[in-house]
Amino acid sequence: MATIAQSPAGTHQWSRSPSPHEALEAHYAANPDTRPPHPHKWDTSRSDIYFENRWEPIFKEMRAAGPVHYIPESPFGPYWSVVGHKAVQHTEALPEIFSSSWEYGGITILDDLPDIPEEERMRLPMFIAMDRPKHTGQRKTVAPAFTPAEMKRLEDDIRQRTGETLDALPRGEVFDWVNTVSIPLTTGMLAILFDFPWEDRDLLTHWSDWAGDTELATVRALDETRRGMLHEMAAYFQLLWAERAQKGEAPDLISRMIHSPAMNQMEPQEFMGNLVLLIVGGNDTTRNTMSGIVHAFDRFPDQRKLFEEDASLIPNAVQECIRYQTPLKHMRRTATQDTELFGQNIAAGDKVLLWYNSANRDESVFEDAEKLDIRRENARRHLAFGYGIHRCVGARLAELQLRVLLEEMHKRRLRVHVAGDVQRVRANFVEGFRKLEVEVTEF
Ligand code: HEM
Repeated sequence: MATIAQSPAGTHQWSRSPSPHEALEAHYAANPDTRPPHPHKWDTSRSDIYFENRWEPIFKEMRAAGPVHYIPESPFGPYWSVVGHKAVQHTEALPEIFSSSWEYGGITILDDLPDIPEEERMRLPMFIAMDRPKHTGQRKTVAPAFTPAEMKRLEDDIRQRTGETLDALPRGEVFDWVNTVSIPLTTGMLAILFDFPWEDRDLLTHWSDWAGDTELATVRALDETRRGMLHEMAAYFQLLWAERAQKGEAPDLISRMIHSPAMNQMEPQEFMGNLVLLIVGGNDTTRNTMSGIVHAFDRFPDQRKLFEEDASLIPNAVQECIRYQTPLKHMRRTATQDTELFGQNIAAGDKVLLWYNSANRDESVFEDAEKLDIRRENARRHLAFGYGIHRCVGARLAELQLRVLLEEMHKRRLRVHVAGDVQRVRANFVEGFRKLEVEVTEF
Protein backbone atom coordinates (compact mmCIF):
# COMPACT_ATOMS: atom_id res chain seq x y z
CA MET A 1 0.00 0.00 0.00
CA ALA A 2 1.35 3.42 -0.89
CA THR A 3 2.02 5.77 1.96
CA ILE A 4 -0.66 8.38 2.47
CA ALA A 5 0.86 11.82 2.30
CA GLN A 6 0.50 14.43 4.97
CA SER A 7 -2.18 16.34 3.26
CA PRO A 8 -4.66 19.17 3.33
CA ALA A 9 -7.18 16.68 4.71
CA GLY A 10 -8.75 17.93 7.89
CA THR A 11 -7.38 21.44 7.49
CA HIS A 12 -10.38 22.56 5.44
CA GLN A 13 -14.09 21.89 5.46
CA TRP A 14 -15.22 20.41 2.15
CA SER A 15 -18.90 20.52 1.37
CA ARG A 16 -20.49 17.22 0.36
CA SER A 17 -23.60 17.84 -1.65
CA PRO A 18 -26.02 15.42 -3.34
CA SER A 19 -24.74 13.22 -6.12
CA PRO A 20 -25.41 14.50 -9.66
CA HIS A 21 -27.84 11.64 -10.27
CA GLU A 22 -29.92 12.61 -7.25
CA ALA A 23 -29.82 16.24 -8.32
CA LEU A 24 -30.82 15.43 -11.91
CA GLU A 25 -33.66 13.08 -10.99
CA ALA A 26 -35.00 15.62 -8.47
CA HIS A 27 -34.79 18.37 -11.08
CA TYR A 28 -36.66 16.34 -13.71
CA ALA A 29 -39.30 15.22 -11.19
CA ALA A 30 -40.00 18.86 -10.28
CA ASN A 31 -39.69 20.19 -13.85
CA PRO A 32 -40.76 17.44 -16.28
CA ASP A 33 -41.03 19.94 -19.14
CA THR A 34 -37.31 20.67 -19.05
CA ARG A 35 -36.34 17.26 -20.40
CA PRO A 36 -34.55 17.99 -23.66
CA PRO A 37 -36.61 17.12 -26.77
CA HIS A 38 -35.15 14.55 -29.20
CA PRO A 39 -37.34 14.56 -32.31
CA HIS A 40 -34.93 12.60 -34.54
CA LYS A 41 -35.40 8.83 -34.24
CA TRP A 42 -31.64 8.19 -34.53
CA ASP A 43 -30.58 10.90 -32.10
CA THR A 44 -28.66 8.63 -29.73
CA SER A 45 -27.56 11.58 -27.59
CA ARG A 46 -30.81 10.95 -25.68
CA SER A 47 -29.98 9.44 -22.31
CA ASP A 48 -33.36 7.75 -21.71
CA ILE A 49 -32.48 4.96 -24.20
CA TYR A 50 -29.54 3.99 -22.00
CA PHE A 51 -31.36 4.50 -18.71
CA GLU A 52 -34.12 2.19 -19.98
CA ASN A 53 -31.63 -0.12 -21.74
CA ARG A 54 -33.27 0.06 -25.17
CA TRP A 55 -30.37 1.41 -27.20
CA GLU A 56 -29.28 -1.80 -28.96
CA PRO A 57 -32.07 -2.02 -31.62
CA ILE A 58 -31.65 1.66 -32.50
CA PHE A 59 -27.95 1.26 -33.30
CA LYS A 60 -28.65 -2.04 -35.05
CA GLU A 61 -31.05 -0.29 -37.40
CA MET A 62 -28.47 2.45 -38.04
CA ARG A 63 -25.66 -0.06 -38.76
CA ALA A 64 -27.91 -1.88 -41.20
CA ALA A 65 -28.44 1.42 -43.05
CA GLY A 66 -24.72 2.32 -43.16
CA PRO A 67 -21.69 3.09 -40.99
CA VAL A 68 -22.03 6.92 -40.90
CA HIS A 69 -25.20 9.01 -40.45
CA TYR A 70 -26.07 12.70 -40.17
CA ILE A 71 -28.33 13.68 -37.29
CA PRO A 72 -29.59 17.16 -38.15
CA GLU A 73 -31.25 17.99 -34.85
CA SER A 74 -30.43 17.36 -31.18
CA PRO A 75 -30.18 19.36 -27.94
CA PHE A 76 -26.45 19.45 -28.67
CA GLY A 77 -26.88 20.67 -32.25
CA PRO A 78 -26.40 18.65 -35.45
CA TYR A 79 -23.80 15.88 -35.50
CA TRP A 80 -22.55 12.86 -37.43
CA SER A 81 -22.81 9.40 -35.90
CA VAL A 82 -20.17 6.83 -36.81
CA VAL A 83 -21.64 3.45 -35.85
CA GLY A 84 -19.67 0.73 -37.70
CA HIS A 85 -16.53 -0.92 -36.23
CA LYS A 86 -14.37 -0.30 -39.31
CA ALA A 87 -15.56 3.29 -39.66
CA VAL A 88 -14.83 4.14 -36.00
CA GLN A 89 -11.33 2.69 -36.30
CA HIS A 90 -10.76 4.50 -39.61
CA THR A 91 -11.84 7.88 -38.17
CA GLU A 92 -9.63 7.47 -35.09
CA ALA A 93 -6.67 6.72 -37.34
CA LEU A 94 -6.94 10.20 -38.92
CA PRO A 95 -6.37 12.56 -35.97
CA GLU A 96 -5.25 15.43 -38.24
CA ILE A 97 -8.62 15.42 -40.03
CA PHE A 98 -10.75 14.47 -37.03
CA SER A 99 -9.46 16.60 -34.18
CA SER A 100 -9.81 15.91 -30.46
CA SER A 101 -8.68 19.40 -29.54
CA TRP A 102 -10.74 21.40 -27.07
CA GLU A 103 -10.05 24.42 -29.30
CA TYR A 104 -12.38 22.85 -31.88
CA GLY A 105 -14.84 21.44 -29.36
CA GLY A 106 -13.09 18.65 -27.45
CA ILE A 107 -14.12 15.06 -26.95
CA THR A 108 -17.69 15.29 -25.66
CA ILE A 109 -20.86 16.16 -27.54
CA LEU A 110 -21.30 19.20 -25.37
CA ASP A 111 -20.34 22.64 -26.61
CA ASP A 112 -20.56 25.35 -23.99
CA LEU A 113 -24.13 26.53 -23.51
CA PRO A 114 -24.65 29.60 -25.67
CA ASP A 115 -25.96 31.71 -22.78
CA ILE A 116 -22.82 31.24 -20.67
CA PRO A 117 -20.56 34.30 -20.90
CA GLU A 118 -17.00 33.74 -22.11
CA GLU A 119 -15.43 34.47 -18.69
CA GLU A 120 -17.61 31.85 -16.99
CA ARG A 121 -16.87 29.07 -19.46
CA MET A 122 -15.08 26.22 -17.78
CA ARG A 123 -12.71 25.07 -20.47
CA LEU A 124 -10.38 22.55 -18.99
CA PRO A 125 -7.51 21.74 -21.33
CA MET A 126 -6.49 18.09 -20.92
CA PHE A 127 -4.38 15.89 -23.13
CA ILE A 128 -7.27 13.66 -24.24
CA ALA A 129 -8.59 16.89 -25.80
CA MET A 130 -5.35 17.89 -27.54
CA ASP A 131 -3.85 17.10 -30.91
CA ARG A 132 -0.27 16.33 -31.80
CA PRO A 133 2.37 17.44 -30.93
CA LYS A 134 1.22 18.74 -27.52
CA HIS A 135 -0.76 15.59 -26.84
CA THR A 136 2.31 13.41 -27.39
CA GLY A 137 4.46 15.15 -24.75
CA GLN A 138 1.79 15.19 -22.05
CA ARG A 139 0.72 11.58 -22.66
CA LYS A 140 4.36 10.50 -22.36
CA THR A 141 4.48 11.95 -18.87
CA VAL A 142 1.75 9.75 -17.43
CA ALA A 143 2.30 6.67 -19.62
CA PRO A 144 5.17 5.35 -17.41
CA ALA A 145 2.64 5.02 -14.57
CA PHE A 146 0.91 2.26 -16.61
CA THR A 147 3.80 0.10 -17.89
CA PRO A 148 3.75 -3.70 -17.37
CA ALA A 149 6.44 -3.25 -14.67
CA GLU A 150 4.26 -0.73 -12.80
CA MET A 151 1.29 -3.11 -13.07
CA LYS A 152 3.40 -5.83 -11.45
CA ARG A 153 4.30 -3.42 -8.65
CA LEU A 154 0.61 -2.59 -8.05
CA GLU A 155 -0.81 -6.10 -8.39
CA ASP A 156 -0.24 -7.34 -4.82
CA ASP A 157 -1.91 -4.30 -3.37
CA ILE A 158 -4.87 -4.56 -5.75
CA ARG A 159 -5.22 -8.25 -4.90
CA GLN A 160 -5.12 -7.60 -1.18
CA ARG A 161 -7.73 -4.81 -1.31
CA THR A 162 -9.96 -6.85 -3.61
CA GLY A 163 -9.71 -9.92 -1.36
CA GLU A 164 -10.52 -7.91 1.76
CA THR A 165 -13.52 -6.29 0.06
CA LEU A 166 -14.89 -9.68 -1.05
CA ASP A 167 -14.26 -11.28 2.36
CA ALA A 168 -16.29 -8.53 4.03
CA LEU A 169 -19.37 -9.02 1.81
CA PRO A 170 -22.58 -9.69 3.72
CA ARG A 171 -23.93 -13.25 3.40
CA GLY A 172 -27.59 -14.16 3.25
CA GLU A 173 -28.74 -10.61 2.58
CA VAL A 174 -29.28 -8.32 -0.38
CA PHE A 175 -26.79 -5.46 -0.80
CA ASP A 176 -25.76 -2.92 -3.43
CA TRP A 177 -22.73 -4.18 -5.42
CA VAL A 178 -22.01 -0.68 -6.77
CA ASN A 179 -21.53 0.94 -3.35
CA THR A 180 -20.01 -2.10 -1.66
CA VAL A 181 -17.56 -3.34 -4.30
CA SER A 182 -17.26 -1.31 -7.52
CA ILE A 183 -16.94 2.17 -6.00
CA PRO A 184 -14.61 1.33 -3.07
CA LEU A 185 -12.24 -0.68 -5.29
CA THR A 186 -11.92 1.94 -8.04
CA THR A 187 -11.80 4.90 -5.66
CA GLY A 188 -9.10 3.19 -3.58
CA MET A 189 -7.09 2.55 -6.74
CA LEU A 190 -7.21 6.21 -7.74
CA ALA A 191 -6.26 7.34 -4.25
CA ILE A 192 -3.18 5.13 -4.48
CA LEU A 193 -2.26 6.35 -7.97
CA PHE A 194 -2.43 9.98 -6.83
CA ASP A 195 -1.20 9.25 -3.30
CA PHE A 196 -4.40 11.09 -2.40
CA PRO A 197 -5.31 11.55 1.30
CA TRP A 198 -6.95 8.23 2.10
CA GLU A 199 -9.54 9.64 4.50
CA ASP A 200 -10.81 12.00 1.77
CA ARG A 201 -10.86 9.49 -1.08
CA ASP A 202 -14.68 9.51 -1.41
CA LEU A 203 -14.33 13.03 -2.74
CA LEU A 204 -12.66 11.60 -5.86
CA THR A 205 -15.82 9.66 -6.68
CA HIS A 206 -18.02 12.62 -5.89
CA TRP A 207 -16.08 15.05 -8.11
CA SER A 208 -15.74 12.51 -10.88
CA ASP A 209 -19.50 11.96 -10.96
CA TRP A 210 -20.08 15.69 -11.31
CA ALA A 211 -17.30 16.28 -13.83
CA GLY A 212 -18.13 13.49 -16.24
CA ASP A 213 -21.82 14.13 -16.81
CA THR A 214 -22.84 15.93 -20.00
CA GLU A 215 -26.59 15.54 -19.44
CA LEU A 216 -26.29 17.70 -16.34
CA ALA A 217 -24.77 20.49 -18.31
CA THR A 218 -27.91 20.79 -20.43
CA VAL A 219 -29.75 21.88 -17.28
CA ARG A 220 -28.56 25.40 -16.51
CA ALA A 221 -29.30 25.28 -12.76
CA LEU A 222 -27.37 22.06 -12.29
CA ASP A 223 -24.57 23.19 -14.54
CA GLU A 224 -23.85 25.95 -12.03
CA THR A 225 -23.60 23.37 -9.25
CA ARG A 226 -21.36 21.29 -11.48
CA ARG A 227 -19.02 24.21 -12.05
CA GLY A 228 -18.98 24.81 -8.30
CA MET A 229 -17.89 21.21 -7.73
CA LEU A 230 -15.09 21.60 -10.23
CA HIS A 231 -13.90 24.75 -8.47
CA GLU A 232 -13.98 22.92 -5.14
CA MET A 233 -11.91 20.15 -6.65
CA ALA A 234 -9.49 22.66 -8.14
CA ALA A 235 -8.96 24.27 -4.73
CA TYR A 236 -8.20 20.91 -3.12
CA PHE A 237 -5.77 19.86 -5.82
CA GLN A 238 -3.98 23.20 -5.69
CA LEU A 239 -3.16 22.48 -2.06
CA LEU A 240 -1.96 18.98 -2.94
CA TRP A 241 0.09 20.37 -5.82
CA ALA A 242 1.82 22.90 -3.55
CA GLU A 243 2.57 20.17 -1.03
CA ARG A 244 4.03 17.76 -3.65
CA ALA A 245 6.06 20.52 -5.29
CA GLN A 246 8.00 20.83 -2.01
CA LYS A 247 8.89 17.14 -2.11
CA GLY A 248 11.27 15.38 -4.47
CA GLU A 249 10.38 12.98 -7.28
CA ALA A 250 7.90 10.22 -6.43
CA PRO A 251 5.95 7.63 -8.45
CA ASP A 252 2.48 9.09 -7.76
CA LEU A 253 0.81 10.77 -10.73
CA ILE A 254 0.77 14.27 -9.27
CA SER A 255 4.51 14.17 -8.59
CA ARG A 256 5.16 12.73 -12.05
CA MET A 257 3.27 15.65 -13.57
CA ILE A 258 5.05 18.24 -11.41
CA HIS A 259 8.51 16.95 -12.25
CA SER A 260 8.05 16.28 -15.96
CA PRO A 261 9.42 18.80 -18.48
CA ALA A 262 6.31 18.40 -20.68
CA MET A 263 3.94 19.22 -17.85
CA ASN A 264 5.67 21.30 -15.23
CA GLN A 265 5.15 24.53 -17.18
CA MET A 266 1.41 23.98 -17.25
CA GLU A 267 -1.08 26.71 -16.47
CA PRO A 268 -3.23 25.90 -13.40
CA GLN A 269 -6.24 25.27 -15.69
CA GLU A 270 -4.27 22.73 -17.68
CA PHE A 271 -3.01 20.97 -14.57
CA MET A 272 -6.58 20.76 -13.31
CA GLY A 273 -7.82 19.50 -16.65
CA ASN A 274 -5.34 16.65 -16.67
CA LEU A 275 -6.25 15.69 -13.13
CA VAL A 276 -9.95 15.65 -14.02
CA LEU A 277 -9.06 13.47 -17.00
CA LEU A 278 -7.20 10.93 -14.89
CA ILE A 279 -9.87 10.87 -12.19
CA VAL A 280 -12.85 10.59 -14.51
CA GLY A 281 -10.96 8.32 -16.91
CA GLY A 282 -10.02 5.87 -14.20
CA ASN A 283 -13.14 6.03 -12.10
CA ASP A 284 -16.49 5.74 -13.84
CA THR A 285 -15.14 3.37 -16.46
CA THR A 286 -13.57 0.58 -14.41
CA ARG A 287 -16.23 0.96 -11.72
CA ASN A 288 -18.99 0.33 -14.23
CA THR A 289 -17.30 -2.71 -15.73
CA MET A 290 -17.01 -4.17 -12.21
CA SER A 291 -20.77 -3.85 -11.97
CA GLY A 292 -21.28 -4.79 -15.63
CA ILE A 293 -19.51 -8.14 -15.18
CA VAL A 294 -21.81 -9.17 -12.37
CA HIS A 295 -24.90 -8.04 -14.25
CA ALA A 296 -23.81 -9.76 -17.48
CA PHE A 297 -22.97 -13.05 -15.70
CA ASP A 298 -26.42 -13.01 -14.15
CA ARG A 299 -28.04 -12.37 -17.53
CA PHE A 300 -25.98 -15.14 -19.19
CA PRO A 301 -25.76 -17.89 -16.54
CA ASP A 302 -24.20 -20.33 -19.05
CA GLN A 303 -21.22 -17.96 -19.30
CA ARG A 304 -21.01 -17.63 -15.52
CA LYS A 305 -20.90 -21.43 -15.35
CA LEU A 306 -18.04 -21.56 -17.85
CA PHE A 307 -16.13 -19.05 -15.73
CA GLU A 308 -16.80 -21.07 -12.58
CA GLU A 309 -15.59 -24.28 -14.24
CA ASP A 310 -12.41 -22.90 -15.80
CA ALA A 311 -10.37 -20.06 -14.32
CA SER A 312 -8.08 -20.05 -17.36
CA LEU A 313 -10.89 -18.27 -19.25
CA ILE A 314 -10.56 -15.19 -17.02
CA PRO A 315 -8.19 -13.07 -19.21
CA ASN A 316 -10.48 -13.48 -22.23
CA ALA A 317 -13.58 -13.00 -20.05
CA VAL A 318 -12.16 -9.60 -19.03
CA GLN A 319 -11.89 -8.52 -22.69
CA GLU A 320 -15.35 -9.84 -23.48
CA CYS A 321 -16.93 -8.13 -20.47
CA ILE A 322 -15.29 -4.82 -21.47
CA ARG A 323 -16.62 -5.29 -25.04
CA TYR A 324 -20.07 -6.16 -23.77
CA GLN A 325 -20.20 -3.32 -21.22
CA THR A 326 -18.42 -0.57 -23.20
CA PRO A 327 -18.23 1.88 -20.27
CA LEU A 328 -17.71 4.94 -22.47
CA LYS A 329 -20.33 5.05 -25.21
CA HIS A 330 -18.64 7.55 -27.46
CA MET A 331 -15.92 10.13 -28.02
CA ARG A 332 -16.38 13.22 -30.16
CA ARG A 333 -14.14 14.54 -32.91
CA THR A 334 -14.43 17.70 -35.01
CA ALA A 335 -13.59 17.78 -38.73
CA THR A 336 -10.71 20.19 -39.40
CA GLN A 337 -11.40 20.23 -43.18
CA ASP A 338 -14.02 19.18 -45.69
CA THR A 339 -13.67 15.44 -46.13
CA GLU A 340 -15.42 12.26 -47.15
CA LEU A 341 -16.13 9.43 -44.75
CA PHE A 342 -17.58 6.15 -46.04
CA GLY A 343 -19.53 7.96 -48.76
CA GLN A 344 -20.69 10.89 -46.60
CA ASN A 345 -19.51 14.46 -47.16
CA ILE A 346 -18.40 15.99 -43.89
CA ALA A 347 -17.75 19.74 -43.70
CA ALA A 348 -14.97 21.47 -41.76
CA GLY A 349 -16.27 22.20 -38.25
CA ASP A 350 -18.78 19.32 -38.20
CA LYS A 351 -19.16 17.37 -34.97
CA VAL A 352 -18.50 13.64 -35.37
CA LEU A 353 -19.42 11.10 -32.68
CA LEU A 354 -17.64 7.73 -32.59
CA TRP A 355 -20.04 5.26 -31.02
CA TYR A 356 -17.90 2.55 -29.35
CA ASN A 357 -21.00 0.83 -27.98
CA SER A 358 -22.28 0.32 -31.53
CA ALA A 359 -18.86 -0.67 -32.95
CA ASN A 360 -18.70 -3.35 -30.23
CA ARG A 361 -22.06 -4.75 -31.36
CA ASP A 362 -21.07 -4.76 -35.06
CA GLU A 363 -22.27 -8.12 -36.42
CA SER A 364 -19.70 -8.04 -39.24
CA VAL A 365 -16.92 -8.34 -36.62
CA PHE A 366 -18.57 -10.02 -33.60
CA GLU A 367 -20.86 -12.98 -34.20
CA ASP A 368 -23.96 -12.85 -31.98
CA ALA A 369 -22.65 -9.50 -30.79
CA GLU A 370 -25.53 -8.93 -28.34
CA LYS A 371 -24.54 -12.03 -26.39
CA LEU A 372 -21.80 -12.36 -23.79
CA ASP A 373 -19.40 -15.12 -24.89
CA ILE A 374 -16.32 -15.38 -22.68
CA ARG A 375 -14.70 -17.80 -25.17
CA ARG A 376 -15.14 -15.35 -28.06
CA GLU A 377 -11.96 -15.61 -30.11
CA ASN A 378 -11.80 -11.99 -31.19
CA ALA A 379 -13.06 -10.31 -28.00
CA ARG A 380 -9.80 -8.29 -27.96
CA ARG A 381 -10.90 -6.47 -31.12
CA HIS A 382 -13.35 -4.42 -29.08
CA LEU A 383 -12.99 -0.64 -29.33
CA ALA A 384 -14.01 0.18 -25.75
CA PHE A 385 -10.56 1.69 -25.13
CA GLY A 386 -10.66 3.63 -28.41
CA TYR A 387 -7.99 3.31 -31.08
CA GLY A 388 -4.90 5.16 -32.31
CA ILE A 389 -2.97 7.93 -30.60
CA HIS A 390 -5.58 8.50 -27.88
CA ARG A 391 -6.19 4.82 -27.08
CA CYS A 392 -6.79 4.59 -23.33
CA VAL A 393 -3.49 5.05 -21.49
CA GLY A 394 -4.95 3.33 -18.39
CA ALA A 395 -6.15 0.20 -20.24
CA ARG A 396 -3.61 -2.13 -18.58
CA LEU A 397 -4.59 -0.92 -15.14
CA ALA A 398 -8.29 -1.40 -15.87
CA GLU A 399 -7.62 -4.91 -17.20
CA LEU A 400 -5.51 -5.76 -14.16
CA GLN A 401 -8.19 -4.61 -11.70
CA LEU A 402 -10.87 -6.59 -13.52
CA ARG A 403 -8.75 -9.74 -13.86
CA VAL A 404 -7.89 -9.67 -10.16
CA LEU A 405 -11.56 -9.18 -9.24
CA LEU A 406 -12.56 -12.25 -11.26
CA GLU A 407 -9.63 -14.31 -9.94
CA GLU A 408 -10.41 -13.46 -6.32
CA MET A 409 -14.13 -14.19 -6.86
CA HIS A 410 -13.14 -17.53 -8.38
CA LYS A 411 -10.77 -18.39 -5.52
CA ARG A 412 -13.58 -17.80 -3.03
CA ARG A 413 -16.09 -19.69 -5.25
CA LEU A 414 -18.28 -16.63 -5.07
CA ARG A 415 -21.44 -16.52 -7.19
CA VAL A 416 -23.23 -13.18 -7.39
CA HIS A 417 -26.96 -13.09 -8.23
CA VAL A 418 -28.90 -9.98 -9.12
CA ALA A 419 -31.52 -9.99 -6.37
CA GLY A 420 -33.22 -6.60 -6.33
CA ASP A 421 -33.24 -3.13 -7.79
CA VAL A 422 -31.10 -2.40 -10.89
CA GLN A 423 -30.72 1.24 -11.88
CA ARG A 424 -28.68 2.37 -14.84
CA VAL A 425 -26.98 5.72 -15.19
CA ARG A 426 -28.98 8.34 -17.08
CA ALA A 427 -26.22 9.58 -19.38
CA ASN A 428 -25.22 9.51 -23.02
CA PHE A 429 -21.46 9.32 -22.30
CA VAL A 430 -20.83 6.91 -19.44
CA GLU A 431 -22.57 3.51 -19.50
CA GLY A 432 -23.14 2.05 -16.10
CA PHE A 433 -25.07 1.27 -13.00
CA ARG A 434 -26.12 3.52 -10.17
CA LYS A 435 -27.46 0.62 -8.18
CA LEU A 436 -27.16 -3.15 -8.52
CA GLU A 437 -28.74 -5.10 -5.68
CA VAL A 438 -27.27 -8.57 -5.36
CA GLU A 439 -26.90 -11.56 -3.09
CA VAL A 440 -23.84 -13.82 -2.94
CA THR A 441 -23.70 -17.60 -2.61
CA GLU A 442 -20.98 -20.17 -3.31
CA PHE A 443 -20.62 -22.34 -6.40
C1 HEM B 1 -8.65 7.56 -22.85
C2 HEM B 1 -11.91 4.06 -22.07
C3 HEM B 1 -9.85 3.06 -17.76
C4 HEM B 1 -7.19 7.07 -18.23
C5 HEM B 1 -9.70 6.69 -23.00
C6 HEM B 1 -10.54 6.63 -24.17
C7 HEM B 1 -11.47 5.66 -23.94
C8 HEM B 1 -11.20 5.09 -22.64
C9 HEM B 1 -12.59 5.25 -24.87
C10 HEM B 1 -10.45 7.54 -25.40
C11 HEM B 1 -9.76 6.80 -26.51
C12 HEM B 1 -9.77 7.51 -27.83
O1 HEM B 1 -10.13 8.69 -27.93
O2 HEM B 1 -9.39 6.83 -28.80
C13 HEM B 1 -11.60 3.46 -20.85
C14 HEM B 1 -12.25 2.28 -20.34
C15 HEM B 1 -11.68 1.99 -19.13
C16 HEM B 1 -10.68 3.01 -18.88
C17 HEM B 1 -13.35 1.52 -21.06
C18 HEM B 1 -11.99 0.88 -18.16
C19 HEM B 1 -12.62 -0.23 -18.44
C20 HEM B 1 -8.93 4.05 -17.52
C21 HEM B 1 -8.09 4.13 -16.36
C22 HEM B 1 -7.35 5.28 -16.48
C23 HEM B 1 -7.71 5.90 -17.74
C24 HEM B 1 -8.05 3.11 -15.21
C25 HEM B 1 -6.34 5.89 -15.54
C26 HEM B 1 -6.32 5.81 -14.26
C27 HEM B 1 -7.34 7.52 -19.53
C28 HEM B 1 -6.61 8.66 -20.08
C29 HEM B 1 -7.01 8.78 -21.42
C30 HEM B 1 -8.00 7.74 -21.66
C31 HEM B 1 -5.61 9.53 -19.35
C32 HEM B 1 -6.53 9.80 -22.47
C33 HEM B 1 -5.52 9.15 -23.40
C34 HEM B 1 -5.04 10.05 -24.52
O3 HEM B 1 -5.73 10.97 -24.91
O4 HEM B 1 -3.93 9.83 -25.02
N1 HEM B 1 -10.11 5.74 -22.09
N2 HEM B 1 -10.67 3.88 -19.94
N3 HEM B 1 -8.67 5.13 -18.34
N4 HEM B 1 -8.14 6.99 -20.50
FE1 HEM B 1 -9.31 5.37 -20.27
